[in-house]
Amino acid sequence: MKQRIEELLQEIQELKAQKLQDIEEYRIRLLGKKGAITKLFEDFREVLPEQKRELGQKLNSLKNMAASKLEELKEKVEDAVQQNAPKFDFTKPGDKFDLGTRHPISITREEILSIFSKFGYAVAEGPEIEDDWHVFGALNFPPEHPARDMQDTFFISQSDNPVLLRTHTSSVQVRAMERMPLPIRIVCPGRVFRNEAISARAHCIFHQVEGLYIDKNVSFADLKQAVLLFAKEMFGEQTKIRMRPSYFPFTEPSAEVDVSCNICGGKGCNICKGTGWLEIMGCGMVDPNVLEASGIDPKVYSGFAFGMGVERIAMLKWQVKDLRLYFENDVRFLREFETVI
Ligand code: PHE
Repeated sequence: MKQRIEELLQEIQELKAQKLQDIEEYRIRLLGKKGAITKLFEDFREVLPEQKRELGQKLNSLKNMAASKLEELKEKVEDAVQQNAPKFDFTKPGDKFDLGTRHPISITREEILSIFSKFGYAVAEGPEIEDDWHVFGALNFPPEHPARDMQDTFFISQSDNPVLLRTHTSSVQVRAMERMPLPIRIVCPGRVFRNEAISARAHCIFHQVEGLYIDKNVSFADLKQAVLLFAKEMFGEQTKIRMRPSYFPFTEPSAEVDVSCNICGGKGCNICKGTGWLEIMGCGMVDPNVLEASGIDPKVYSGFAFGMGVERIAMLKWQVKDLRLYFENDVRFLREFETVI
């Protein structure tokens, strides 16, 4: 047995392997169920007691030696495999990866804000979850006004001053009037929520930019000028505006603003439904009741306010016919805005 152990030791030392499969074969041949070393352990049972100690030690070290040799071979083969792996070709063109694009609503909101920032308007933001006072009460909505109905507004809790999702960002203007020093000149961008059925022209969540200017001697002429300058910046120098009388509880007088259709130049087309005009916003002179509710003296100060839907402006600017496209995040639609800004 001693001789056999010596032979195997010699053999193991000389083992060489090209591939992992060779090593597995050696393992089976030496340490497998019918392997040479396993066989020696079986024969060991027959060994005379006085030889057991010496042979037992030799046998164990043979087994350890085999195991570590196999391990060593395995590492070598693996290293070789790695070194022979195809080298990285730095001359190849890189994989194309798509950059994200800015969402058309973000692009439009930023454009509106940057136009007004040129006119000296600061950006003011406020909470989406509001109370009745800031969305309705302070804005001169009578208690029975339909906007206060469950059908138009998402209520979160009912009480004397219910908690609700704001239906317009005029609530931010109320917060500004309560807190900011006069004069105030702000634009308020943000998401608003209305309990409306989703269609091509309406959604229950959309974005607004509203504006407010309060100072001494602010007149309707100032409002008209601000709106005209905005329309020209947004839709082009040739753009004309017209104002139609309207009603909002918080402004008096109130108006709806139309811009001349930027598609047909005012001649009439299917976008403007043959009228030559497109409606873009509501506006008016801040009602004295609203100033008073926020602690501003209407005998000294006056102001104007306006509000527009960002989706609506974006639809007109890019002739998008279905508002839902802005919310579906279909990349084929979003990619169309890759080149804008
Ligand atoms: N708050 C109005 C709305 O959401 C818009 C508006 C703002 C109208 C300011 C007039 C003045 O429809």
